[in-house]
Amino acid sequence: NGQQHIAVAIDGPAASGKSTVAKKLAKLLGLNMVNTGAMYRAVVWGALQKNVSPNDPAAVVAMLSDFDFECKINQGSSEVWVDGQLLESELRSDAVNANVSAIAAIVEVRELLVAKQRGLLQYGSVIMEGRDIGSVVFPDTPYKLYIDASEEVRAARRAADGEVDAVGKRDAQDSKRKVSPLIVADGATVIDSSEMTLEEVIEAAVAALTAQGLDQ
Ligand code: DC
Repeated sequence: NGQQHIAVAIDGPAASGKSTVAKKLAKLLGLNMVNTGAMYRAVVWGALQKNVSPNDPAAVVAMLSDFDFECKINQGSSEVWVDGQLLESELRSDAVNANVSAIAAIVEVRELLVAKQRGLLQYGSVIMEGRDIGSVVFPDTPYKLYIDASEEVRAARRAADGEVDAVGKRDAQDSKRKVSPLIVADGATVIDSSEMTLEEVIEAAVAALTAQGLDQ
Protein backbone atom coordinates (compact mmCIF):
# COMPACT_ATOMS: atom_id res chain seq x y z
CA ASN A 1 0.00 0.00 0.00
CA GLY A 2 1.63 3.19 -1.30
CA GLN A 3 0.13 5.22 1.53
CA GLN A 4 2.43 3.63 4.07
CA HIS A 5 5.58 4.40 2.14
CA ILE A 6 7.39 7.61 2.89
CA ALA A 7 9.26 10.00 0.62
CA VAL A 8 12.31 11.98 1.67
CA ALA A 9 12.83 14.93 -0.69
CA ILE A 10 16.34 16.24 -1.37
CA ASP A 11 16.62 19.26 -3.61
CA GLY A 12 19.43 21.65 -4.47
CA PRO A 13 21.54 23.06 -7.30
CA ALA A 14 23.94 21.09 -9.50
CA ALA A 15 27.05 19.75 -7.76
CA SER A 16 25.83 20.78 -4.31
CA GLY A 17 26.66 17.26 -3.15
CA LYS A 18 23.02 16.22 -2.91
CA SER A 19 23.48 12.98 -4.90
CA THR A 20 26.27 11.78 -2.64
CA VAL A 21 24.27 12.74 0.44
CA ALA A 22 21.12 11.08 -0.92
CA LYS A 23 23.00 7.84 -1.67
CA LYS A 24 24.53 7.69 1.81
CA LEU A 25 21.23 8.51 3.50
CA ALA A 26 19.38 5.90 1.45
CA LYS A 27 21.83 3.22 2.65
CA LEU A 28 21.71 4.44 6.22
CA LEU A 29 17.91 4.58 6.33
CA GLY A 30 17.26 1.56 4.11
CA LEU A 31 15.27 3.49 1.49
CA ASN A 32 15.23 3.27 -2.28
CA MET A 33 17.33 6.00 -3.89
CA VAL A 34 15.87 7.84 -6.89
CA ASN A 35 17.93 10.24 -9.00
CA THR A 36 15.43 12.35 -10.97
CA GLY A 37 18.10 14.32 -12.86
CA ALA A 38 18.91 11.04 -14.64
CA MET A 39 15.32 10.94 -15.91
CA TYR A 40 15.55 14.42 -17.47
CA ARG A 41 18.95 13.46 -18.88
CA ALA A 42 17.47 10.28 -20.40
CA VAL A 43 14.87 12.32 -22.29
CA VAL A 44 17.69 14.49 -23.68
CA TRP A 45 19.69 11.43 -24.67
CA GLY A 46 16.64 9.97 -26.44
CA ALA A 47 15.96 13.22 -28.26
CA LEU A 48 19.57 13.52 -29.46
CA GLN A 49 19.49 9.88 -30.66
CA LYS A 50 16.37 10.60 -32.68
CA ASN A 51 17.64 13.92 -34.05
CA VAL A 52 14.97 15.80 -32.14
CA SER A 53 16.18 19.23 -31.01
CA PRO A 54 15.87 19.69 -27.22
CA ASN A 55 15.23 23.36 -28.02
CA ASP A 56 12.12 22.57 -30.06
CA PRO A 57 9.39 21.89 -27.47
CA ALA A 58 6.80 20.83 -30.07
CA ALA A 59 9.17 18.24 -31.52
CA VAL A 60 10.08 16.97 -28.04
CA VAL A 61 6.40 16.65 -27.09
CA ALA A 62 5.71 14.78 -30.35
CA MET A 63 8.56 12.40 -29.51
CA LEU A 64 7.03 11.68 -26.08
CA SER A 65 3.88 10.19 -27.61
CA ASP A 66 5.74 6.95 -28.35
CA PHE A 67 8.83 7.29 -26.22
CA ASP A 68 10.09 3.95 -24.91
CA PHE A 69 11.19 5.11 -21.46
CA GLU A 70 11.27 3.14 -18.24
CA CYS A 71 12.40 3.98 -14.73
CA LYS A 72 12.87 1.01 -12.39
CA ILE A 73 14.23 0.35 -8.94
CA ASN A 74 17.02 -2.22 -9.03
CA GLN A 75 18.81 -3.22 -5.81
CA GLY A 76 17.70 -0.06 -4.07
CA SER A 77 18.53 2.48 -6.79
CA SER A 78 16.71 3.94 -9.76
CA GLU A 79 17.71 3.00 -13.29
CA VAL A 80 16.61 4.63 -16.53
CA TRP A 81 16.10 2.70 -19.75
CA VAL A 82 15.44 4.18 -23.19
CA ASP A 83 14.63 1.96 -26.18
CA GLY A 84 15.52 -1.09 -24.10
CA GLN A 85 18.97 0.25 -23.20
CA LEU A 86 20.16 0.92 -19.66
CA LEU A 87 21.69 4.41 -19.62
CA GLU A 88 24.60 5.23 -17.32
CA SER A 89 27.70 7.15 -18.47
CA GLU A 90 25.72 8.28 -21.54
CA LEU A 91 23.73 10.54 -19.24
CA ARG A 92 26.71 12.66 -18.26
CA SER A 93 28.03 13.55 -21.73
CA ASP A 94 28.73 17.18 -22.60
CA ALA A 95 25.89 17.10 -25.14
CA VAL A 96 23.43 15.98 -22.48
CA ASN A 97 24.74 18.54 -19.96
CA ALA A 98 24.35 21.31 -22.52
CA ASN A 99 20.74 20.47 -23.37
CA VAL A 100 19.18 19.25 -20.15
CA SER A 101 17.98 22.64 -18.88
CA ALA A 102 16.05 23.19 -22.13
CA ILE A 103 14.31 19.80 -21.85
CA ALA A 104 13.58 20.33 -18.15
CA ALA A 105 11.73 23.57 -18.97
CA ILE A 106 9.11 21.76 -21.09
CA VAL A 107 5.93 21.33 -19.07
CA GLU A 108 4.84 18.07 -20.79
CA VAL A 109 8.22 16.49 -20.05
CA ARG A 110 7.88 17.45 -16.40
CA GLU A 111 4.32 16.08 -16.18
CA LEU A 112 5.39 12.73 -17.61
CA LEU A 113 8.42 12.41 -15.32
CA VAL A 114 6.66 13.67 -12.18
CA ALA A 115 3.97 10.98 -12.68
CA LYS A 116 6.68 8.32 -12.99
CA GLN A 117 8.47 9.67 -9.92
CA ARG A 118 5.31 9.50 -7.80
CA GLY A 119 4.64 5.98 -9.11
CA LEU A 120 7.97 4.72 -7.76
CA LEU A 121 6.59 5.04 -4.23
CA GLN A 122 4.58 1.86 -4.83
CA TYR A 123 7.81 -0.16 -4.65
CA GLY A 124 8.77 1.19 -1.23
CA SER A 125 9.88 4.27 0.65
CA VAL A 126 12.21 6.54 -1.26
CA ILE A 127 14.86 9.18 -0.99
CA MET A 128 14.36 11.21 -4.13
CA GLU A 129 16.77 13.91 -5.25
CA GLY A 130 16.22 16.65 -7.80
CA ARG A 131 15.06 20.25 -8.05
CA ASP A 132 11.30 20.12 -7.43
CA ILE A 133 10.84 17.06 -5.22
CA GLY A 134 9.77 18.93 -2.08
CA SER A 135 7.87 21.63 -4.00
CA VAL A 136 6.05 19.65 -6.72
CA VAL A 137 6.56 15.88 -6.64
CA PHE A 138 5.91 15.30 -2.92
CA PRO A 139 4.79 18.67 -1.50
CA ASP A 140 3.01 16.94 1.41
CA THR A 141 5.96 14.95 2.72
CA PRO A 142 7.25 16.29 6.04
CA TYR A 143 10.78 15.10 5.17
CA LYS A 144 12.51 17.72 3.07
CA LEU A 145 16.12 18.85 2.74
CA TYR A 146 17.69 21.47 0.52
CA ILE A 147 21.43 20.93 0.07
CA ASP A 148 23.27 24.05 -1.00
CA ALA A 149 26.90 25.02 -1.63
CA SER A 150 28.62 28.16 -2.89
CA GLU A 151 29.15 28.54 -6.62
CA GLU A 152 32.95 28.25 -6.14
CA VAL A 153 32.65 24.99 -4.23
CA ARG A 154 30.22 23.56 -6.76
CA ALA A 155 32.46 24.47 -9.72
CA ALA A 156 35.41 22.82 -7.95
CA ARG A 157 33.41 19.64 -7.24
CA ARG A 158 32.35 19.37 -10.88
CA ALA A 159 35.95 19.83 -12.03
CA ALA A 160 37.11 17.13 -9.60
CA ASP A 161 34.53 14.81 -11.18
CA GLY A 162 36.17 15.47 -14.55
CA GLU A 163 33.14 17.31 -15.85
CA VAL A 164 33.39 20.44 -17.89
CA ASP A 165 30.03 22.01 -17.35
CA ALA A 166 28.82 25.57 -16.91
CA VAL A 167 27.19 24.79 -13.59
CA GLY A 168 26.36 28.42 -12.85
CA LYS A 169 24.63 28.86 -16.19
CA ARG A 170 22.60 25.67 -15.80
CA ASP A 171 21.52 26.65 -12.28
CA ALA A 172 20.49 30.10 -13.47
CA GLN A 173 18.33 28.47 -16.16
CA ASP A 174 16.88 25.94 -13.70
CA SER A 175 16.09 28.66 -11.14
CA LYS A 176 14.58 31.16 -13.57
CA ARG A 177 12.33 28.85 -15.59
CA LYS A 178 8.58 29.27 -15.27
CA VAL A 179 7.66 25.65 -14.55
CA SER A 180 8.84 24.12 -11.28
CA PRO A 181 11.92 26.31 -10.80
CA LEU A 182 14.55 25.29 -8.28
CA ILE A 183 13.33 26.76 -4.99
CA VAL A 184 13.59 25.95 -1.31
CA ALA A 185 10.32 24.06 -0.73
CA ASP A 186 7.98 24.97 2.11
CA GLY A 187 9.16 23.15 5.21
CA ALA A 188 12.58 22.19 3.83
CA THR A 189 15.68 22.42 6.03
CA VAL A 190 18.56 24.11 4.21
CA ILE A 191 22.03 22.65 4.72
CA ASP A 192 24.90 24.66 3.26
CA SER A 193 27.60 22.08 2.62
CA SER A 194 30.30 24.54 1.41
CA GLU A 195 32.44 24.29 4.54
CA MET A 196 31.38 20.83 5.69
CA THR A 197 32.80 17.36 5.24
CA LEU A 198 30.50 14.66 3.86
CA GLU A 199 30.24 13.13 7.35
CA GLU A 200 29.14 16.47 8.77
CA VAL A 201 26.52 16.91 6.07
CA ILE A 202 25.14 13.42 6.73
CA GLU A 203 25.03 14.13 10.45
CA ALA A 204 23.19 17.43 9.83
CA ALA A 205 20.81 15.71 7.40
CA VAL A 206 19.92 12.96 9.87
CA ALA A 207 19.41 15.54 12.62
CA ALA A 208 17.14 17.62 10.35
CA LEU A 209 15.06 14.59 9.28
CA THR A 210 14.74 13.48 12.90
CA ALA A 211 13.54 16.97 13.83
CA GLN A 212 11.02 16.67 10.96
CA GLY A 213 9.67 13.54 12.66
CA LEU A 214 11.45 10.74 10.80
CA ASP A 215 12.06 7.85 13.14
CA GLN A 216 14.62 5.39 11.89
O1 DC B 1 20.74 16.65 -10.91
P1 DC B 1 21.25 16.75 -12.34
O2 DC B 1 22.37 17.74 -12.50
O3 DC B 1 21.57 15.43 -12.95
O4 DC B 1 19.99 17.34 -13.17
C1 DC B 1 20.08 17.56 -14.54
C2 DC B 1 19.14 18.66 -14.97
O5 DC B 1 17.78 18.21 -14.87
C3 DC B 1 19.23 19.94 -14.16
O6 DC B 1 19.93 20.92 -14.90
C4 DC B 1 17.81 20.38 -13.95
C5 DC B 1 16.95 19.21 -14.34
N1 DC B 1 16.17 18.65 -13.25
C6 DC B 1 14.94 19.19 -12.99
O7 DC B 1 14.56 20.17 -13.63
N2 DC B 1 14.14 18.65 -12.04
C7 DC B 1 14.55 17.60 -11.32
N3 DC B 1 13.74 17.09 -10.39
C8 DC B 1 15.83 17.04 -11.54
C9 DC B 1 16.62 17.60 -12.51
